Amino acid sequence: MAYETIIVEVDNHVATVTLNRPDALNALNDQLMSELAEALTAAQDNEKVRCIIITGSEKAFAAGADIAMMREKSFVDAFSGDLFTPETDQILRVRKPIIAAVSGYALGGGCELAMMCDFIICSDTAKFGQPEINLGVVAGIGGTQRLTRIVGKSKAMDMNLTGRFMDATEAERSGLVSRVVPCKKLLEEATGAAQKISEKSMISVMVVKEAVNRAYEVPLREGLLFERRMFHALFATEDQAEGMGAFLEKREAQFRDK
Ligand code: HXC
Repeated sequence: MAYETIIVEVDNHVATVTLNRPDALNALNDQLMSELAEALTAAQDNEKVRCIIITGSEKAFAAGADIAMMREKSFVDAFSGDLFTPETDQILRVRKPIIAAVSGYALGGGCELAMMCDFIICSDTAKFGQPEINLGVVAGIGGTQRLTRIVGKSKAMDMNLTGRFMDATEAERSGLVSRVVPCKKLLEEATGAAQKISEKSMISVMVVKEAVNRAYEVPLREGLLFERRMFHALFATEDQAEGMGAFLEKREAQFRDK
């Protein structure tokens, strides 16, 4: 499939999707979001892919939803069109892990897209923000909700109310990103993490993704019960026998996703 606003490469079990609208700092428009959703679904369906990376350019992961595209919309257009909702729903249905590798600006919808991924690795040049308030609107795909759950009320209010940007140090301190690396090392670090994940049993990997995401959806007691039952269920897999056997036999496990 030929895409115009993203570049997709599959190598060594990792699909890397690069947002590619350099003239607009990778601003998210309908075409980019639809191509991204399609590429992620294709990666989900591709047996060779075990982990996915979404990245942008050095200057921008994505500077938000495309303001030129939104400018002329009426309430009815925005409400009826339900901007980006089908695409984000499709992205959230992907069961393989997705790492956001963020360099430069991740603003508005760009920050929200990064937060939809399973974790974020960023470069020391990264800047996160929800500046929609400066445009007379508010975040629309998670900036008041996911950001609040991740960094807490005070910082989420600060970012959404003032529109200020968070640098990489603050983002790591706040738990928004899992690692900060020098800009030139960003893809190497993200690819290394993706390849490490690719070596695990895909069943355990998908269970981790479901279980951690469940922590944001259900009360603690329900989340713990889900985790425990999934832990029990994994004893029905060959990979459990292989993983534990390999440890005790002091050799590398050879998982077969069974
Ligand atoms: C459209 C954008 C854009 C955007 C940048 N560009 N961000 N175009 N939508 N979100 C374009 C600029 O118009 C410019 O085009 C080119 O990219 C380079 O940007 P500059 O502003 O010249 O670069 P710089 O001075 O380095 O400033 C970088 C920046 C700034 C700080 C990131 O561009 C900026 O503030 N962008 C907007 C950020 C924002 O408000 N995001 C939230 C959007 S609302 P030309 O043609 O002039 O070269 C949103 C809602 C999500 O995301 C909810 C959806 C449901």
